[in-house]
Amino acid sequence: MSSKLIAPSVLAADFANLQRDIDMVNKSEADWFHIDIMDGVFVPNISFGMPVLQAIAKHAKKTIDVHLMIVDPDRYIKTFANLGSNILTVHYEACTHLHRTLQAIKDEGMKAGVALNPHTNISLLEDTINDIDLVCLMSVNPGFGGQSFIENTYNKVKELKELIVKKGASTLIEIDGGVTNKNAKALVEAGADVLVAGSYVFKSTNQFETIKDLRAIANS
Ligand code: DX5
Ligand code: ZN
Repeated sequence: MSSKLIAPSVLAADFANLQRDIDMVNKSEADWFHIDIMDGVFVPNISFGMPVLQAIAKHAKKTIDVHLMIVDPDRYIKTFANLGSNILTVHYEACTHLHRTLQAIKDEGMKAGVALNPHTNISLLEDTINDIDLVCLMSVNPGFGGQSFIENTYNKVKELKELIVKKGASTLIEIDGGVTNKNAKALVEAGADVLVAGSYVFKSTNQFETIKDLRAIANS
């Protein structure tokens, strides 16, 4: 069984000390950097854009997992590839031609991810699951860090895992929103592979230890 991965969400970092927080993640047991890009249209919030990602990528020594919460993501696929994204995740709800978008992401040498809002049914991925490297299940409504976890996520993880097995796909399941030491184990047991954690990591007093503990719980 492969290791379960921890992806701290930089959205909750201290932007006035970004290099310090990036270095902390570099030195920690975290596996990926999770980067939330919000446009103020697809979600009711604006996070940060290309210059900030460029600064992060300059210091990040781990996989850069970019979560685009933007409309018409096709416009920026090349840009995010050039900025150093390793995984590029688009929202199902923001893509009219999802199959084409996934292809375009892979053509730029990145892994292709699809995020589902809490209301979006797993069955909608029946015809694309074999083309998707990662499904990001939103366990909060996207737009803000620090929200509480939606319990129905467990059902969705199980359904998604069944779909992946049924189709013989190798898609990873990522959970995004409200992840803590309280739900990590149950999420992994339901089938999750990657846990994103923002506030839980960055608002804790010992971030380094929090990552270590979360990773240990996920792999216990
Ligand atoms: C929410 C973002 C998440 C967020 C998670 O729209 O996609 O990645 O940063 O933050 P927490 O872990 O605080 O819920
Ligand atoms: Zn995210």
